Amino acid sequence: METSDTLSPLPLDPFGRDQHRENARLRALGPVALVELPGGVPAWAITHHETLQQLLADPRVTKDPRQWPTYAEGKLPADWALINFVNVPGMLTRDGADHRRLRALSSQAMTPRRIAALRPRIEQLTAQLLDDLAAQDGEFELRTAFAFPLPLQVIAELLGLPAMDRDTLRDLSDTLLNSSAAPGETLAAQLQMFALLGAVAEAKRAEPGDDLTSALIAAREEGEQLTDEEVVVTMLTVLVAGHETTINLITNAVRALLADPDQLARVQAGELSWSAVVEETLRYDSPVGQFPLRFATEDIAVGEVLIRRGEALLASYAAAGRDGGQFADADTFDAARPTPRHLSFGHGPHFCLGAGLARMEAEIALSALFARFPKLRLTRPATQPIPSFIINSVTELWAAAE
Ligand code: HEM
Repeated sequence: METSDTLSPLPLDPFGRDQHRENARLRALGPVALVELPGGVPAWAITHHETLQQLLADPRVTKDPRQWPTYAEGKLPADWALINFVNVPGMLTRDGADHRRLRALSSQAMTPRRIAALRPRIEQLTAQLLDDLAAQDGEFELRTAFAFPLPLQVIAELLGLPAMDRDTLRDLSDTLLNSSAAPGETLAAQLQMFALLGAVAEAKRAEPGDDLTSALIAAREEGEQLTDEEVVVTMLTVLVAGHETTINLITNAVRALLADPDQLARVQAGELSWSAVVEETLRYDSPVGQFPLRFATEDIAVGEVLIRRGEALLASYAAAGRDGGQFADADTFDAARPTPRHLSFGHGPHFCLGAGLARMEAEIALSALFARFPKLRLTRPATQPIPSFIINSVTELWAAAE
C-alpha cells in the first residue's frame, strides 16, 4: 500500500490559480492524493465525491488539531498562512461533545424561524443595491457592488454588528481565508478581528439586543454558557463563513449564466428554477474550494492508500463537485440536470449551519438581479481567481445592464 512515505506530495498552488485543472490532476491519482500545503505541510486531499462523503462522517476523522502531532508538538512553520484553521478554538476545530455544545448553542440562536424572518430585509437590501447599480452609467463591478455587500450586510445585521467599517471587515476576513497570505498576516488579521468582535460582544453583554451575538451570550445548553472566547470565536466563524461563501456563490452563478445565454434564457422564461441554478452552481463551482483541516485518529485505508494516524486531510469540495464518477458531464454547468447531491455545504457533524440562509440569499439576489437587468452582460473576461485555494471564485465581475 502507498503511504505518505512512498508518495511524493504535489504542491497545492496557494494562489488557487487554476483549481479545476489542479483538481482534475488530483482526482486522476485516486480518491485521495498527497498534497503539500503552504509551508511544506503535507495533507491528503479527498477529491472523489463518495470518499469525501464517507470520510466527512467517519468517526476515525476529527477536526480537533490537538490530535495533530504537527500542531500539538509545535512543528508548524511560524506564522503559517493557514494557522487560523487550527489555532482558533471553535465549532470548526472541535468534535464530539464539545462540538455538539458549541454548535447546539449557535443553532439555537440561528433557528430556521430566525432565518426565514430575514427574507423581507434581504429583499429590501437587494432592491436598494440594484437601485444603486441602475443609477450607475455604463459598466459596474458586480462582485464589489452587489455580491459582496448583500451577504455582509445580512450577516452583520444578524450578528448585531454596529455600522463599522465594512471595508476593514472584508479585508480582515479575506486575509483569514487567503492561503497565499504573507507570513504573519493571518495572525495579525486574527488579532484585529478578535479585538473588533470582542468590543461588540462586550457592548452586547451590557446592553443586549435582538441579535445572534446577544442570543449567543444568553444561550444555555444544559446550564452551560459560552465562554467569552467562545462567543467571539463563534461570531468570527459566523461572520466569515456567512459572507465569504455566499458572495462567491452569487458571483459564480452570475458568471456561469452569463457564459451561457441559452441557459439563462430558459431560467428567465421560468423553464428552470433559480433554486436549480443555485444547486448546480454549488456543484459546478463550489464556493469553498477546499477546506482545511481534518486529522486521522487511526490508520485509514482508502483504496490503495494508507492514511496513517495523525496525518492531515483536506476536504476538496470543488474537486468532488466535478467528479465524473458521480456526475455525468461534470465539467458542464447544466441547471437542468436532476438536483445534484453535492457536498458543497459539507456533510456529517459539521454540515453548514447557514445553508438555508445562503440558499435563500442567493435565490433572492439572482432572481432580482436578472429581473432588473434582463440584458445583463459581461464587459470584461472574468478570469482572475481569488488568491486562495480555500475560496473558489474570481476577483472581479465587470458587467453592463445593456
Ligand atoms: C454559499 C454559501 C456557503 C457555503 C458554500 C458554505 C459551506 C460550508 C462548508 C463546506 C462547511 C463545512 C466545513 C468543513 O468542516 O469542512 C460549512 C460550515 C459552516 N458554515 Fe457554511 N457555507 C455557506 C454559507 C454559510 C452561512 C450564510 C453561514 C452563517 C450564517 C454559514 C455558517 C457555517 C458554520 C457556522 C459552519 C461550521 C459548522 C460546524 O463546524 O459545525 N455558512 N459551510
